[in-house]
Amino acid sequence: MKGNKLAMDDIFRKETKSFQAYVPGKPVEEVKMELGLNEIDKLASNENQLGPSPKAVEAVRQAAADIHFYPEAGCPELRRELAEKLGVAENQLVFGNGGEELIQLIAQTFINQRDEIITADPTFGIYGITAGLMGATTVRVSFKDKDFDLPGMAAAINPKTKLIYLCSPNNPTGNYISKEQLEVFLQKVPSDLPLLIDEAYYEFAASCPNYPDTISLLAKRPRTIILRTFSKISGIAGVRIGYLISSVELATELNKIKLIFGVNRLAQEAARGALKDEDHLKKTLEMNRRSLDRMMNAFNEWDLDYFPSAANFIFVDTGIDSRRLFDQLLRLGTIVRPGFYWGWDNWIRVSTGTTEQTERFIQRLKKVLDSERPASKT
Ligand SMILES: Cc1ncc(COP(=O)(O)O)c(C=O)c1O
Repeated sequence: MKGNKLAMDDIFRKETKSFQAYVPGKPVEEVKMELGLNEIDKLASNENQLGPSPKAVEAVRQAAADIHFYPEAGCPELRRELAEKLGVAENQLVFGNGGEELIQLIAQTFINQRDEIITADPTFGIYGITAGLMGATTVRVSFKDKDFDLPGMAAAINPKTKLIYLCSPNNPTGNYISKEQLEVFLQKVPSDLPLLIDEAYYEFAASCPNYPDTISLLAKRPRTIILRTFSKISGIAGVRIGYLISSVELATELNKIKLIFGVNRLAQEAARGALKDEDHLKKTLEMNRRSLDRMMNAFNEWDLDYFPSAANFIFVDTGIDSRRLFDQLLRLGTIVRPGFYWGWDNWIRVSTGTTEQTERFIQRLKKVLDSERPASKT
């Protein structure tokens, strides 16, 4: 047809124009070859360095024989078991291909063009990215005195606000919102406004003083959505499965929109296995505590500022540009997440690890700090 040409610019959704392509890190095997290293400790993605729950692995092995069948769309067995464990109704749950997909589903379900969302800054970047794709603007409220500025977030609410995102414990800082802080905040947030509480690191924080029981909030505030994932605590990030807990009304709408077969057969079974694996959970929490304590001791000794962490990573001010530090640590064999991603140029986020990985990280960091800051306390 003549005269009906679409320019390249016109074929994509206009919101995609402002998007930057995700630049993945080089595959670990490639980096090893390039740098002549035998081993690399990847402490950059908050994975569980203990490995996957053995019960999840066994469940995947058994389920592998059935992968010629589509998965059960509604994850019925997992749904029943998880609902019972959490003390919620089965139709309050929404499962997804990792929490990441669920954050996108939330944007697709709630957000219209020109809406606004409110997030903390720094926080998990996917909130702004997914809302941006739907044409919304992200209002970022900076941390104040190394904590969430919850009054600032409440003050940012206006008629365009569609959703508030709280990440607790927060990625990348690792601090959490206490029960009291949340109560005060919610007094200022209209109850009709949807609120996401991202608890991807819930299990690491659950025993912290005054960590809120967010599920009990649902009865009082049904427009709340809680996100959790099996990626971190259960060590099954590679099969991708996370879930939302909300009111029946919101969960029903979210389930309506989601991909029918989004949660694959292996992921469903891995999650069921992991749910029964108390031993792996206990060992993970123990490893995490040891690693955090060891790192905090070193940071204290060296006078480095950091956020006390309730998660499986810690955010620390090294006083050195994080791009350069990232590079030097990589050459020594540890991969961390540089803070410049969040505009915190001298900070790095490092995941917890085994005793050996943690020790290696500390030695390597010391080596870099000593060479960069000869007069420092390290
Ligand atoms: C705060 C937060 N939310 C959600 C996720 C998504 O996790 P997944 O997609 O592996 O379930 C992550 C992963 O790093 C995270 O840090």
